Amino acid sequence: MRIAVLTGGGDVPGLNAAIRAVARRAFDYGWEVYGIYDGWRGLRDGIIGLLDRSDVSGILHRGGTILGSSRTNLTRRAEDMEQAISVATEFGLDGIIAIGGDDTLGVCAELTKLGVPAVGIPKTMDNDIPGTDYCIGFNTAVSTVADALDKLHTTAESHHRVIVVEVMGRYTGWVAIMGGLAGGADYIAIPEKPSSIADICQHIHRRWEMGKKFSIVIVAEAAKIAEIHATDEEAEEHKDQFGHVRLDMRGLASTVARAIQDRTGFETRFVVLGHVQRGGSPTVFDRLLATRMGVYAVDLIKQGKFARMVVLRGDKITDVPLAQVAHKRREVDKELCDLAELFY
Ligand code: F6P
Repeated sequence: MRIAVLTGGGDVPGLNAAIRAVARRAFDYGWEVYGIYDGWRGLRDGIIGLLDRSDVSGILHRGGTILGSSRTNLTRRAEDMEQAISVATEFGLDGIIAIGGDDTLGVCAELTKLGVPAVGIPKTMDNDIPGTDYCIGFNTAVSTVADALDKLHTTAESHHRVIVVEVMGRYTGWVAIMGGLAGGADYIAIPEKPSSIADICQHIHRRWEMGKKFSIVIVAEAAKIAEIHATDEEAEEHKDQFGHVRLDMRGLASTVARAIQDRTGFETRFVVLGHVQRGGSPTVFDRLLATRMGVYAVDLIKQGKFARMVVLRGDKITDVPLAQVAHKRREVDKELCDLAELFY
C-alpha cells in the first residue's frame, strides 16, 4: 500500500505528532508513506516526497508542520480538482490523510465524491469542527491563553488597569471562553453571544465597587460588540481563497480598549495574542490526541473505509462520515456561556 499525508490551513502544535503517528503505523504495516507539501497545493502541483523513519523522528514535541501548509481551495476551479486527482493517480496513492480544519476537510470531502480515497483528521485551534469533542491544537492554544492571562493579571492588578485581550477564533468563541474560564477572565465577548460596551463597563464598575480595581476582558477576534465599529472594510479587502476576511485587521482589541477607557475613565490597555496561540510545543493532551487520531486514520484506510473523519467522543477515538461534518460549524453553547458568566 502507498499512502500520503498532508496538513492544510492554519498550523497548530500537534500536527507533527499526527504526521509521525500516521507514518509509524503505516511503516508498521510495511506501507510506503508520502508527504504532500504545503497542503492541497502540493497535491495539485505534485510536490510530494517519500518519507522515511528519520523524517518523522524527533518531531513529536515540535510545533508547526514539517510538511508546510497553505490555504489552497482546489474546489474553486475544476482544472485544479482534475489536476489533483490525476497527480494522486499518477503517484498510485491508495489513500490520502488530510489533517486540517473546515476548509481543508471541505476540499477533502469534495475529492472523495470524485473517487479520491481519502480520510480526514480534525485540527484547528478554533475547535469548531462538528462531530468531535476536540480538534488537534485547541488544547495547546487554550493553555497559551490561560498562561497569558496569569501574566496579565499581575500587571493589571499592580497598575489598577483594565486589560483587553484579543484571542483567535474565526467564527466561534471556543478559545475565548475556555481560555477565559481557565485564566479567570472578568468578561468574555464571543461571536455566539451579543455583547455591548455598556455591559462590559457595568461589570468593570461592579468589580471596582467590590474592591477589585482591575479587570481582564477577553474579546474573540470575531466578536460582535454593540457600539463598536471595528474596521471591517479593510479586513474585507484581504480575503483568502476560501473567502475568509483578515480578522486581525479589524483592530477589535484597540477599539474596545479605547471605548472602555472613554466610558469608565479607567486606564485601559490591550494585547493581541495572535499567532503566539498557534506556536510552541503541543500539550500532553494534543500529543496524545494527535497520536491516537493519526494511528486510527491509517487503520481506516487499512479497512478500506474512506470519506470518513476521525473524531474524539468522550475518551474514545472513532469516525464519522466526512459529508456529515464538512462545511458545517460547531458553536459554543448556552450552557458554557452561562458557566463563564458565573465568574464575571
Ligand atoms: O483558522 C485558524 C485561525 O487561527 C483563526 O483562528 C484565525 O482567524 C486565522 O486562522 C488566522 O489565519 P492566518 O494564518 O491567515 O493569519
